[in-house]
Amino acid sequence: MPAKILLVNGPNLNQLGTREPEIYGTETLADVEKKAQTAAKRLKLQLDCTQTNHEGEIVTLIQGAAKKYHGLILNAGAYTHTSIAIMDALLLLKIPIIEVHLSNIFRREEFRHHSYVSLAARGVICGLGTNGYVYALEALAELCLK
Ligand code: DQA
Repeated sequence: MPAKILLVNGPNLNQLGTREPEIYGTETLADVEKKAQTAAKRLKLQLDCTQTNHEGEIVTLIQGAAKKYHGLILNAGAYTHTSIAIMDALLLLKIPIIEVHLSNIFRREEFRHHSYVSLAARGVICGLGTNGYVYALEALAELCLK
């Protein structure tokens, strides 16, 4: 049975491709999900991808992940910096969580330097563009064997 991974992209990540391309690049969300699926296949992981602009929906997805998945990849977008509700949901989750950001949040505005997600994540990948999702899958492929 392959390990099952859930990839959740948060608000405004459905706008990838046209959203501030100098920061986020020109690949669309569909490109990102395709790239992640290709990596998952290579790593023998089963991957489900989803995106939502709604904070409460991210909380519900995290709660649901407990029973169905062995690992979680989360780019919570701007909620990374604001959402105690998402952090509380993540703190209840026993499976490994990898936080991903396309941009290097530490080179940007100060309000992006703090992450509530990091307080619950096993690891953080940021600043490496869409490859960050591939690296997160590689990390989970190892972590989910343990
Ligand atoms: C982001 C960084 C966040 O600060 C921002 O609000 C996003 C995208 C990233 O992937 O670099 O929406 O999470």
